[in-house]
Amino acid sequence: MRQPFNDIAHQYDLLNDLLSFGTHRFWKRRLVSQLLRAKICPGTILDIATGTGDLAALFSRKIPPQVIIPLDPCGPMMDRGKIRFPHLQNWTLGTAESLPLGSASVSIASCAFGVRNFREREKAFEEIARVLEPGGLFGTLEIHPISEQLRYWPYRFFWNSLVPGVGRLFNQKAAYEYLRDTGAGFISPEDMIKELSHRFELKTHENLLAGGLVTLMVFERKHEPNNKN
Ligand SMILES: C[S@@+](CC[C@H](N)C(=O)[O-])C[C@H]1O[C@@H](n2cnc3c(N)ncnc32)[C@H](O)[C@@H]1O
Repeated sequence: MRQPFNDIAHQYDLLNDLLSFGTHRFWKRRLVSQLLRAKICPGTILDIATGTGDLAALFSRKIPPQVIIPLDPCGPMMDRGKIRFPHLQNWTLGTAESLPLGSASVSIASCAFGVRNFREREKAFEEIARVLEPGGLFGTLEIHPISEQLRYWPYRFFWNSLVPGVGRLFNQKAAYEYLRDTGAGFISPEDMIKELSHRFELKTHENLLAGGLVTLMVFERKHEPNNKN
């Protein structure tokens, strides 16, 4: 599953701009500002599935880079990030399913367009809950499938024509079939909230595009019952 991102790492940022018409930049800025508004002086910030480091770099506009950990299993994606953002220091190779961090050591975990790539979502959510301090925040941006009624022509055009078309244009057919399948086959925001509800409380849920095609969610790590004060 890492292969598609190895193959497209050198083109990823350009393709991201093309496929989202640049709007991913706005969505990412919005997620970071929501998280920093909710947690004004965070300790460690972990950006899971950081790719080429967009979210980590946005955090570093407000927070010292020493406390920001960009993490991804794909070396070539992070190599691009290291060139783009040389001031970020803590690039870490790893997966969400096995985070190389201590329990309750993170104040904010973020993940933009990464949850749908997790191989074992339940295990990854357990890990994220483990590393977050009680009251810590988990912020996500995701592409979800939308309901039948809302599948109007822009939605069909995006998944059936634009994504495969761009894949062909850049000679990356397999990678873009993977993107289409992980995007269109992902769970709904409601199911994601349900999966996280054991350990997290939903704080923010915004539909950023087309009735839920792109969503921004912020969850707060619940206190364990015996930690409650
Ligand atoms: C669509 S990219 C998103 C990159 C970046 N967050 C952004 O929004 O531009 C998805 C990223 O998820 C990473 N990924 C794949 N499987 C993962 C896993 N199990 N745990 C963490 N990240 C993973 C990929 O290597 C890739 O860099």
